[in-house]
Amino acid sequence: MSAHGTATRTSAPAETLEPEQHQFIDHVVKAHHLEHGALIPVLQEVQKEFGYLSQPAIDRIAAGLGIPFSEVAGVVTFYSFFNTSPRGKHIVRVCLGTACYVRNGKQVLSDLQRELGVNVGETSEDRNFTLEVGRCFGACGLAPVVMIDDDVHQRVKPARLRDLLLRYRNDAEANSQEDTP
Ligand code: FES
Repeated sequence: MSAHGTATRTSAPAETLEPEQHQFIDHVVKAHHLEHGALIPVLQEVQKEFGYLSQPAIDRIAAGLGIPFSEVAGVVTFYSFFNTSPRGKHIVRVCLGTACYVRNGKQVLSDLQRELGVNVGETSEDRNFTLEVGRCFGACGLAPVVMIDDDVHQRVKPARLRDLLLRYRNDAEANSQEDTP
């Protein structure tokens, strides 16, 4: 089973796990494997640690719990709180609810896709942004609306998207410089 097909085996360049990641997964599997319904908590713990569930991680979990890969991949793709690709520092969510859609939301989305070089659900190459869509953020009167992390941006104009992203990009760079000893 694979609801959306994003966690099936692919022929993309092989991602690998570090030895300590193997150990972590084995440790989590061991802690839960006797529990009924162990799969979800195992997936949650592994995602919490690694940020997302890569194909090798899913493989290792499947083997550890003795469940077919396709079954684990199906669960991962079914629940929207599981991610199969790395997440960006910022989550950009474009509203495609009715009010936003009719007030240029689709254009905002396609401009953001072009600006970030990603499709919906993907993360930009610099790992700063993950692009998602939503269905109404409760600010319909001020459509079109884009949320970046917890910030709601209203009446977003496609021409100003680049400046908007730049603010977050600069913040991310400033933070990463602060983190550098
Ligand atoms: S439809 Fe976009 S905020 Fe309601």
